[in-house]
Amino acid sequence: MNKEELIEKAKEARELSYSPYSHFKVGAAILTKDGQVFVGANIENSSYPLCMCAERNALYNAMLHGVKKQDMVAMALSANTDEPCSPCGACRQVISELFPKKAPIYMSNLKGDVKETNIDELLPFAFSEDDLK
Ligand code: THU
Repeated sequence: MNKEELIEKAKEARELSYSPYSHFKVGAAILTKDGQVFVGANIENSSYPLCMCAERNALYNAMLHGVKKQDMVAMALSANTDEPCSPCGACRQVISELFPKKAPIYMSNLKGDVKETNIDELLPFAFSEDDLK
């Protein structure tokens, strides 16, 4: 699966968003070494702090299907934003723990803009398990 196809999966997942409060739909898709794709969308709650982002749902979906960190090869996310949608701070911290440091992250929007990055660039000097030693 190529970059464009993974972004398309994120856009499809976006349609599954449950976002009656923000009306801001986000979709994410994670590609594995063996070509599987695990998606996520944001799921909100009337108790606002309980809202969960698309990126974290995609990561947890992959993990709960037995996917290991080293088997994740790329992530795409998409939302209806002017610039390619960028992961929030909380998601960056979780991505930094669960997703390979240099694996591509394709941020995109519905207009077709794409920015390629990785979690090392998105969250330099991350807090990690090493800091707990
Ligand atoms: N959201 C995501 O799903 N991912 C992001 O990276 C940014 C924000 C969601 C959370 C909330 O449901 C809505 O977008 C508005 O913040």
